[in-house]
Amino acid sequence: MKKISVLGCIAATVLSGNMLRAENHILLSTKNSSLLLTAEKGQAPLFQYFGARVDSPDDIFNSGVALRDPAYPQFGSQCYREVAVQATHADGNMSLELAVESVSRDRRDGAETTAIAMKDKHYPFFVTLFYKTYDDCEVIETWTEISHTEKKPVTLYRFASAYMPVRRSDTWLSHFHGMWGAECYLHEEPLTDGMKVIKNKDGVRNTQRDNPSFMLSLDGCPQELSGRVIGGALAWAGNYRIALDNDNTHTTRVFAGINEEQSQYILKPKEVFTTPVFAFTFSEEGKSGVSRNIHRWARLHRLNHGTELRDVLLNSWEGVYFKVNQEGMDQMMADLADLGGELFVMDDGWFGDKYPRNNGETSLGDWVVCREKLPQGIEGLTASAKKHGVKFGIWIEPEMTNIRSELYEKHPDWVIQQPYREKRMGRGGTQLVLDLSNPDVQEFVFGVVNRLMTEHPDIAYIKWDDNMTLYNYGSTYLPANRQSHLYIDYQRGMEKVLRRIHEKYPDLVMQSCASGGGRVNYGVLPYYDEFWTSDNTDALQRIYMQWGVSNFYPAVAMGSHVSASPNHQTGRHVPLKLRFDVAMSGRLGLELQPAKMTDEEKEFARKAIATYKEIRPVVQQGDLYRLISPFDKTGHAALMYVSPDKGRAVWFGYKLEHFRNMPFPTFRMAGLNPDKRYTVTELNVEGKPIPQSGMTFCGAFLMENGLEFSLGNEYASRVLEIKAID
Ligand code: GLA
Repeated sequence: MKKISVLGCIAATVLSGNMLRAENHILLSTKNSSLLLTAEKGQAPLFQYFGARVDSPDDIFNSGVALRDPAYPQFGSQCYREVAVQATHADGNMSLELAVESVSRDRRDGAETTAIAMKDKHYPFFVTLFYKTYDDCEVIETWTEISHTEKKPVTLYRFASAYMPVRRSDTWLSHFHGMWGAECYLHEEPLTDGMKVIKNKDGVRNTQRDNPSFMLSLDGCPQELSGRVIGGALAWAGNYRIALDNDNTHTTRVFAGINEEQSQYILKPKEVFTTPVFAFTFSEEGKSGVSRNIHRWARLHRLNHGTELRDVLLNSWEGVYFKVNQEGMDQMMADLADLGGELFVMDDGWFGDKYPRNNGETSLGDWVVCREKLPQGIEGLTASAKKHGVKFGIWIEPEMTNIRSELYEKHPDWVIQQPYREKRMGRGGTQLVLDLSNPDVQEFVFGVVNRLMTEHPDIAYIKWDDNMTLYNYGSTYLPANRQSHLYIDYQRGMEKVLRRIHEKYPDLVMQSCASGGGRVNYGVLPYYDEFWTSDNTDALQRIYMQWGVSNFYPAVAMGSHVSASPNHQTGRHVPLKLRFDVAMSGRLGLELQPAKMTDEEKEFARKAIATYKEIRPVVQQGDLYRLISPFDKTGHAALMYVSPDKGRAVWFGYKLEHFRNMPFPTFRMAGLNPDKRYTVTELNVEGKPIPQSGMTFCGAFLMENGLEFSLGNEYASRVLEIKAID
């Protein structure tokens, strides 16, 4: 990396009373936003500004909006404050005094990384802050490296990925909270004095409750299409902590990083501790603007195969649960092909020799085919897939075992456990988590995928599940004085395995699943193409969950399946059309037994799948505009995707509840080209299309006035294609 003393040749006037010299300002800009830092040799670096793009630091200083806050607060003489970094040196001193040593910039592959290297004024203890900007998107990535060359190990107690002060105004927080079957509900609240913490301590399924992402709306009550909004997401699959500290100094101090609870890290001399990436962005186009920025970044830089289209799949779980067999799988593949689907995924229930997997109580770890159920082995299944012209995918849960398994009988020491304590079990009362800090376990988990892929290179897709919390914290592999590394080393071990799989099988498509939406984060998404949004497939509740998920994760990655009615999780009956119209707003799939569908249902499904294939590029690669929030309780929800050239859009509208004489909205569009004329065509029509179907309107009119039509009664829905006339 090139070291430079004059930073980016930025000309800024030195203000009277301001000791900061122009050449020490670092202005990092995307097309629409700027981050201003100051790094003066021998001083602590400062965070000055993050917001709308500015072309000169002068405006920031002259206007008085400069924050002058430390860029990475440390536990030192200012010890009363919340801090980003804290370490106890080998001699017992608990304080830090970090000062800038140098700044460097590295430009490659359309991105620029700026590094601010700091050293403690007394100890050989080093912290480097990294900031990466891309030419083609609006997201800035930041992370930190910590190291030292002290004589003995140093203990890290705080190691945030990032610190960001935000000027307080009528600031509102949007965050995403949930539970199994109801993940990622949107919660919004004005930030009040005191601290708000979003955190996780599951160890494995880090998004089952809260997602490591948030937005701050700076201009009052959050809006979808207007207002200044900052969004941030932590790219980490383990325990995390996002703390928003609001004090009386008109600043919200945001700390984001690994959750350090029970995770103090003992750092050897010369060992480098690298924090996860914190990705952040700014938009003046409301929350949807932040989502579009993040989605674009994800598709281009953070999601496996992010710019490729996804297949329409049938997953066997809700169709047959554990009752997997050759004939049944063959029949499902034949039906899928008949409906126009492209990929069949055999879920749980296919494995186990000594202990056949018939329920959640046995066999995890024994990744050999159950010959009783599948006498022709996986070969029989891939042959069926070939015969029916569909791809084949398979379910695994390789980080886990059951006490009733050959793996556990052979390697009881491989599970996470505490000496002298009875083990707390997970699913089925027998499940345990393998200790991924152990390289032997890493080798085993890699081997699960490697063996499947070597023996059956036709496998096109893997659904990688994990259905348990990390209970029984303790490792037989880590030494006594490194037990506190387990939460972190588990994730690092997992990442090593995923990286190897990714390098060896670059075309393999993988889904991240963790009891539904328990692993929806940018820590794992570089290795997965998509995630299972929730085990709850009820279309009505999915409207809420998918709305929440869509804030930070793009539709191309959001597994969304049509299931049976009544729904298996909620017991609700909703029309097949609503089930399709909701699933088609994400990565469409099926999660049912097609043999149980009526001929009319099959005919509707056939047409809807064909339609989805037509609109798939717009949904999966387009820009999202959320229009009417289900959380606003108007009984309606609406959103649309617009192709990047604004030539095509797809609009989805849902009726959540129905009362006589309830007001219904005029459906205003967004994101279109105001100067173009568009033809509106209703898709997935059932009954009568809307009166405007087939008519043309000017883009400006659709956005300023919109269309008025009835969606229908409860659980009705409509999908419109809006196509520019050349
Ligand atoms: C988890 C997943 C489901 C399914 C089952 C199989 O609950 O979320 O989709 O794969 O496991 O046991």
